[in-house]
Amino acid sequence: MSVQNQFSKYANDYSSNNIIQQIVSKALVRDINSKPKRILELGCGSGQVFSQIDWKLEYYKATDFSQSMCDIHPQETNLDIYCFDFDSEEFWYNIKNEDYDIVLSSSAMQWSKNLSKLVNRLMAVSNEINAVLFTSNTFKSIQKITKKESPILDLETIKNSFLQYCDCEFEVFTYNLEFNNKKDLFKYIKNSGVSGDSDLNFKEAKKLFKEYDKNYLEFEVVFIKAFSKQ
Ligand SMILES: C[S@@+](CC[C@H](N)C(=O)[O-])C[C@H]1O[C@@H](n2cnc3c(N)ncnc32)[C@H](O)[C@@H]1O
Repeated sequence: MSVQNQFSKYANDYSSNNIIQQIVSKALVRDINSKPKRILELGCGSGQVFSQIDWKLEYYKATDFSQSMCDIHPQETNLDIYCFDFDSEEFWYNIKNEDYDIVLSSSAMQWSKNLSKLVNRLMAVSNEINAVLFTSNTFKSIQKITKKESPILDLETIKNSFLQYCDCEFEVFTYNLEFNNKKDLFKYIKNSGVSGDSDLNFKEAKKLFKEYDKNYLEFEVVFIKAFSKQ
């Protein structure tokens, strides 16, 4: 299943399966001190980031490539919601003549097919990006058993993509999310929106269920504050 379909499929019950995303999106907004008035958001989902903002905005552009997510995003007068793939030319043509105080993104940019190109483009429309990205160390013990590579970007690639064009501050956090039983744990992976394309066949899934001996799931995220190079 493509990443886009996976997010769309679970759009309606997504809020009950995204505890880590909720924690990191709150932290992302809490860390913004400048009260930016014009904001561009990438991978807005159901509006976790927008909903945390408690200061007056001039303009907010929320973008996501899943129409089902865009449909459940809160609506406001000074807010536009666009269904765009942030790696697409269509997205670039839409934003390239604009100017933002800040670009925000929570739990989304790890899916970029060309993160350094995306960062370069974003720095043309804003002097600052605040983002939090999951890294390939998310579900790392599971990958050890399945021997399948993470579908999301690794920390080094993420850092290098930003460092090419920006002065950066990075903070890496790991979270272990505990479950009462294995069934709930595996259901969470499927519905969480961070497992991507790595669907297992029946035999592989059975092996994983048998061999995974932890009662928690591992997540790794990197918080990034990126500024135009001095
Ligand atoms: C894990 S969700 C996070 C949603 C929201 N930012 C939050 O914090 O709850 C990731 C979102 O990124 C979107 N997304 C993933 N890849 C994308 C891309 N290439 N272009 C636009 N949106 C993308 C998905 O559709 C999904 O809504």
